[in-house]
Amino acid sequence: MKIFNKKLDLQQFLAPFYLEKKAVGLVPTMGALHEGHLSLIQKALSENDIVVVSIFVNPTQFNNAEDLEKYPRNLSGDIKTIERLSQKVVIFAPEISEMYENTPKAISFDFGGLDKVMEGKFREGHFQGVATIVEKLFELVKPTRAYFGEKDYQQILIIKSMLEQRKLPVTLVPCPIIREESGLAMSSRNERLSPEGRKQAAFIYSVLQEAQKLFTTASVAEVEAFVKEQFSQKEGFDLEYFTITKADTLKEVKEKKSSESYRAFITVYVEGVRLIDNIAL
Ligand code: PAF
Repeated sequence: MKIFNKKLDLQQFLAPFYLEKKAVGLVPTMGALHEGHLSLIQKALSENDIVVVSIFVNPTQFNNAEDLEKYPRNLSGDIKTIERLSQKVVIFAPEISEMYENTPKAISFDFGGLDKVMEGKFREGHFQGVATIVEKLFELVKPTRAYFGEKDYQQILIIKSMLEQRKLPVTLVPCPIIREESGLAMSSRNERLSPEGRKQAAFIYSVLQEAQKLFTTASVAEVEAFVKEQFSQKEGFDLEYFTITKADTLKEVKEKKSSESYRAFITVYVEGVRLIDNIAL
């Protein structure tokens, strides 16, 4: 299996694929690969002639130095995992200096407020950093299709907006959330939980499912109050936010209309680990 650390080497490898008009799939990741990532790679493999998996812990999307430092890294394990999966995948695992000249800095994008709510509100500058690195990867790999998981639903809308602004010819492929048997959304951050914490954290999805059921008969305010109440009583869980928004704009909702699609988003700390999840309502 091919592993590239340098942009130039990856570009040289990909050149014949463009010439032959082959489909190139890109799965951008920050490594510590889990089943969720593997499902994206599998989908990319089924739809493209070659798949590039990037593994890069992007410093400009972290607003907290400790979070960046603690982010799980396991490049040798990731390489083995991908090797077992397919030989049609190439890995791009650059150093920071390969992606950013001098001090890593995010480009400033105008997302019309989409980057200021939910994850953007609690992780200032996060989406500017995400859009910066994803644009760099798109410019480099020139993928036909790029694959992102819906656990980071807001990220998908941000990347969609970046693609429209930059007029890049990439098809964005959103993929469903993959869950552990308990219902906990798969995340590299789950590795930082103790076995007990990981079991307990399944509570987050069970509350989301109850909220989804309740939403069919109750008002937005009632569902929000119900979720807050569940977490206020639950030891070891620190609810950062729960919010119901319109699915396409992420604008908060007060009154629901039958013609609209909604989604609920949640962020909870368990054992000091920040876990996010969401559900269609
Ligand atoms: O979702 C992630 O893992 C990251 O935000 C991404 C898209 C790889 C950009 O660093």
